[in-house]
Amino acid sequence: MSLFSNSISLRKDSIRISDAEFVELRDFIYDKTGIFVDEKRKYLFESRFRRRLTELSLSSFADYIKFLKFDSSRREEMVRLFEMVTTNETSFFRDMKQLDAFRDHVLADVLEEQRKSGRKELSIWSAGCSSGEEPYTLSIILHEMLGLDISRWRIRISANDISKAMIEKARVGLYPEYAFKTTPDAMRKKYFKQDGDLWRINDTVTKLVDFKLMNLNDSATLKRIPRSHIVFCRNVIIYFDEAMKKKVVNSFYDNLVSGGFLMLGHSESLHKVSKAFKPIFHPGAIAYRKE
Ligand SMILES: C[S@@+](CC[C@H](N)C(=O)[O-])C[C@H]1O[C@@H](n2cnc3c(N)ncnc32)[C@H](O)[C@@H]1O
Repeated sequence: MSLFSNSISLRKDSIRISDAEFVELRDFIYDKTGIFVDEKRKYLFESRFRRRLTELSLSSFADYIKFLKFDSSRREEMVRLFEMVTTNETSFFRDMKQLDAFRDHVLADVLEEQRKSGRKELSIWSAGCSSGEEPYTLSIILHEMLGLDISRWRIRISANDISKAMIEKARVGLYPEYAFKTTPDAMRKKYFKQDGDLWRINDTVTKLVDFKLMNLNDSATLKRIPRSHIVFCRNVIIYFDEAMKKKVVNSFYDNLVSGGFLMLGHSESLHKVSKAFKPIFHPGAIAYRKE
């Protein structure tokens, strides 16, 4: 390593975040996204943001906070900020036990209700969809359940995320091997085509899904999502504090049709968040029904 690159890395490492700067940055992130950065993650954030400071040739976190608040390019920086503060871990068929219970009970009941009422329509909302694996999995499950009859249904899966990079990836629909770590081989063979080292999802699956960049902290924008029979919001509210969880779950409540269902991640619950839903217990999954 040259002397020059050594001195650069020394300089980079010497940018430290003070306690006051951390609190100011944390509050700013919370205000924009509802994501609460715990004190324990301070050093992880320090190293993530330090890289960005170097790219912007800023020498302190105080300067970066000023940049975020007042610079003429602060709107574009917000896109970068959202990417730095989110965790986008996901995969196709994530939590198979929950998906099986969802298919056999929740989805089967909703489809049956719709059939009986003579309206072959279904709206699902995947809130915090990351790079698309969750809404595409839901589309595949629907294809498997309905078979050829799917062409007689009007199905819409609205999928949103705050990360522009994730929404763009989802729209491209090309996935590496690790996206399939929880996926049965038969499903990959049936709904994807190999493209070099990657796998491209079939158009039949993508056709049902509508991706949009959206911030769950922006209640007014959430009102534009069509009414849903089912909301999926898995492994998202875990990053929010209680106030933000309540705000987001209220938006889901307002969006759902009466008798509609909310599905959360397996480590999440509505305990201390909302009493407006009735928990329905299935082996491997809890579905929250809007009463
Ligand atoms: C861990 S991933 C979960 C993805 C998928 N739901 C799953 O369970 O596999 C959490 C996603 O929530 C998104 N997210 C976090 N805060 C958000 C917000 N305020 N508005 C919209 N999306 C948000 C992140 O960008 C990230 O892609």
